Amino acid sequence: MEVQSTTRTVHVATPQQRYDILIGAGLLGAAAPWQGLPAADHGVIVSNATVDGLYGAALAAALAPHHRRVTRLQLPEGEQYKDWATLNLIFDHLLAEGCDRRTVLYALGGGVVGDMSGFAAACYMRGVPFVQVPTTLLAQVDSSVGGKTAVNHPRGKNMIGAFYQPARVVCDLATLATLPARELSAGLAEVIKYGPIADMALMDWIESHLDALRAGDVDALAHAVQRSCEIKAAVVGADEREAGLRAILNFGHTFGHAIESGLGYGQWLHGEAVGCGMAMAVELSAALGLVDAAFAARLVRLIERAGLPVRAPAMAGSRWLELMRLDKKAQAGEIRFVVIESPGRAGVRAAPDALVLEVIAGRSEPRRP
Ligand code: NAD
Ligand code: GLY
Repeated sequence: MEVQSTTRTVHVATPQQRYDILIGAGLLGAAAPWQGLPAADHGVIVSNATVDGLYGAALAAALAPHHRRVTRLQLPEGEQYKDWATLNLIFDHLLAEGCDRRTVLYALGGGVVGDMSGFAAACYMRGVPFVQVPTTLLAQVDSSVGGKTAVNHPRGKNMIGAFYQPARVVCDLATLATLPARELSAGLAEVIKYGPIADMALMDWIESHLDALRAGDVDALAHAVQRSCEIKAAVVGADEREAGLRAILNFGHTFGHAIESGLGYGQWLHGEAVGCGMAMAVELSAALGLVDAAFAARLVRLIERAGLPVRAPAMAGSRWLELMRLDKKAQAGEIRFVVIESPGRAGVRAAPDALVLEVIAGRSEPRRP
C-alpha cells in the first residue's frame, strides 16, 4: 500500500469532547498526528500480540518525544476475551507501572482493543485521556469514533461499559494492508450500513467501488473511511448518548448480536454478524411495507458481494427472541429493531414476533431434525 501525503480530517463535536479523526496512509510512524495531545509522563500502548508485533514498535518510537516513558501491553486476542478479566489486565498494568491520572492510553488495534482500552481509560482513576489508533477497517469506520466503550457479559454483548470519548482518532490506512481478507469484509459491513440508513449516494458509490475496496485500494479506502466517519460524527454530535437518533447506527445489530452471543463470541466476526443482520433487518423493513422487495434484494446482494454471510445459523425461534430481548434498545421486554423507513433513512420500531420469526426463518440455514 502506497504512503500518501494527504491527511483527511473529520471533526467530532459532542457535549463531552471535541476531537479530530485523522485519516491517511503512513500516519502511525509520522510526527504530526501525535502533536498537541494531553501532556503526560507516561504513555501506555494497549494492543494484542498480532497488532503490537506489527505496529507497536513504530508507534512507541513516534510517541517517544511526547512521554518520558512509553510501555506496551498485549491483551489476549479475540472477541472471546473482551471481558471483565481481560479489562482487569489493563488496570493491573497501569497500577504496576505506577501510572497517574495524566497517563495517556493508546488503543492500538481493532474494535476489541479499542472498546476495552476506552472503558479502562474511563474507569482508571475515574478517567484518563485515551487515543484511538484503529488498525481494522471496522474500527476505522465505526468503533473508534463516538465513545462507546464496553466489555461483553456472557449473557449479552457490550453490556458493561461507558460513553467516553477519545482525545483523537488516528486512522493509518497503511495498516489495513496486513488485515486478513475476512476482517476487511467484516469492516465493509459497517461501511455498507451507512448507505441505507443515511446516504444513498454512498451506497451507489460502494456498489461501483467494491472491487477496489476489497483489493485494498488506498484511495477507495480513504473515501470509505472519511465518508463513514463524517456520517458517524454527525449522528454522534447530535445524540452522543443514544437518546434517540444514534440508535440508527445499530442497523442489523439486533439480529447480529443474537448471532454473536447465540453461537458464542468469536465464532462469527462482529462484522459478519452485522452483515447478515442487515440482510434480515432490510427484509423485516420490506415485510413491514416500508421499502420494496427490490431494495431489500439490492442490499442483500451488496452484502454478499462484500464477502459476508447472508444466511443466519440455525437457531430455534424462541432462542432468537430470548437473545434479542437482551438488546439495549428493548423496552419493557419489547424488542425494537432499526428498520429502513425509506432508502437512506432509518428509524426504530417494534414488530410482531410472528413477522420477525418469518423473516428469520427465510434467512436462516435449515435446522437439522
Ligand atoms: P477485532 O478487534 O477482533 O480485530 C480483528 C482481528 O484483526 C484481531 O485478531 C486483530 O488482532 C487483527 N488485526 C487488527 N488489526 C490488524 C492489522 N492491521 N493487521 C493484521 N491483523 C490485524 O475486530 P474488529 O472487527 O476490529 O472489532 C470488533 C469489535 O468492535 C466488537 O467487539 C464490536 O462489538 C466492537 N464495535 C464497537 C463499536 C463502538 O461503537 N464502540 C462499533 C462497532 C463494533
Ligand atoms: N456502533 C454503534 C454506535 O456507535 O452507536
